[in-house]
Amino acid sequence: MEKKNTPVPQTATLTYNGRSIELPVVVGTEGEVGFDVSNLYAKTGHLVYDPGMANTAVCKSDISYIDGENGILRYRGIPIEKLSATHDFIETAMLLMNGKLPTVEERLNFGMLLTENANIHESMKHHFDSFPPKAHPMAILSAMVNSLFCYDRQFQRMIDKDPTLAIDTAAANLMSKVRTLAAYSHRAAQGLPYMFPDPSLRYCSNFLHMMFSEPYRQYIPENEIDEALNLILTLHADHEQNCSTTTVRIVGSAQANLYASVSAGICALWGPLHGGANVAVIDMLESIHRGGLSPQECIEKAKDKNEPFRLMGFGHRVYKKYDPRARLLKTCCDRVFKRLKVQDPLLDIARKLEELALKDSYFIERKLYPNVDFYSGIILRAIGIPTNMFTVIFAIGRMPGWIAQWKELYNDQNSRLTRPRQIYIGAPLTQYQPLTKRK
Ligand code: ACO
Repeated sequence: MEKKNTPVPQTATLTYNGRSIELPVVVGTEGEVGFDVSNLYAKTGHLVYDPGMANTAVCKSDISYIDGENGILRYRGIPIEKLSATHDFIETAMLLMNGKLPTVEERLNFGMLLTENANIHESMKHHFDSFPPKAHPMAILSAMVNSLFCYDRQFQRMIDKDPTLAIDTAAANLMSKVRTLAAYSHRAAQGLPYMFPDPSLRYCSNFLHMMFSEPYRQYIPENEIDEALNLILTLHADHEQNCSTTTVRIVGSAQANLYASVSAGICALWGPLHGGANVAVIDMLESIHRGGLSPQECIEKAKDKNEPFRLMGFGHRVYKKYDPRARLLKTCCDRVFKRLKVQDPLLDIARKLEELALKDSYFIERKLYPNVDFYSGIILRAIGIPTNMFTVIFAIGRMPGWIAQWKELYNDQNSRLTRPRQIYIGAPLTQYQPLTKRK
């Protein structure tokens, strides 16, 4: 990263095998410098090798900004700490999707759109019956979100004629229905009847009502619970080019529709190295609690290169300091447990693990700090969310980010089909004996 506003050279020189070429330099708002290799193959016939794309900027984006060295996250330029203290998840979503915070009137209108779109088509409910009992809710959610396309006739009709209207309507539809579908995927797995959304409830409370209400006893969460879930969703709303967002963009680059692209993002999020880590954290804490390992043994196991085990909820591709979202969730965790007057031995274990890791040279040298998943699962547990729904909650939170990124891609005149290359290391041209046909 170059110092902001300091002039940087316009090109970088790449020399290989006695030949040099000039690569244009691309500079971001905060001084990040990239070397534009988009014409490298055309000019030299050579490729860039970057496994996991850890050094590759795949797009220019103005949605969220991370400075991993300094533990900074901003949505549209606003620090996450400030935004989450003053605006709710829906306002944050509007900021991400529309590029600016809503006016009071816009917020009201969007709230009405969410209410109008909360119910799913009755025939969609039958889709849930075709999943086996105990089907994973992430599998159900991804399939259902993809199917939503078939029910959004407006999107299908309007996307070429009035894309802004089509995308904005689909965005409200997705934002609202993802919560209904998520709650129903839980109820389907439990064999419970579906609860209609309640238009009088706020976004998070409405979700919790659809999750936990009984036919003659409505569940309305306490304010603290609504606020905690709201914070979790807000902190997950976008995070630049992470694995699932990149998936959404890759699928979208083939001009796949918004629903299909987002559905693919849900599948990517499911993985334990990404959104599924919040489940892996609880599994790890539970195993320690059952007496499998002491916190110190767990730390030692995570450091042992002969073990595949990692300290789940620790480490991040970009953050090399404390993840700012983890910091906010740690405080929220203390608040929720204090207000609800509940205790959870897993919280004590998590605190102990953090304490041990933060003073261990292995973690210090590799700059491994708690990430967003370390404390979110413990809060969700306190709220009563079953473990297999944790990543689903993450998906609800990430929805506005995925939509915003898809929209940005759609509106980018310079976007191209994502089609990476490879360095082939397989067999060279091979002579072979064809199978002889049976006579
Ligand atoms: N526990 C123990 N060691 C770790 C951990 C961990 N959680 N994370 C990284 N390391 C070590 C690696 O073994 C490696 O050590 P080495 O240099 O001696 O070989 C070094 O730190 C660098 O690790 P990489 O895997 O190269 O880092 P990368 O950026 O590829 O991985 C990741 C980031 C996947 C998040 C990793 O830290 C990890 O597996 N964490 C646990 C899973 C997790 O919490 N995922 C959630 C991430 S947040 C999110 O997606 C929402």
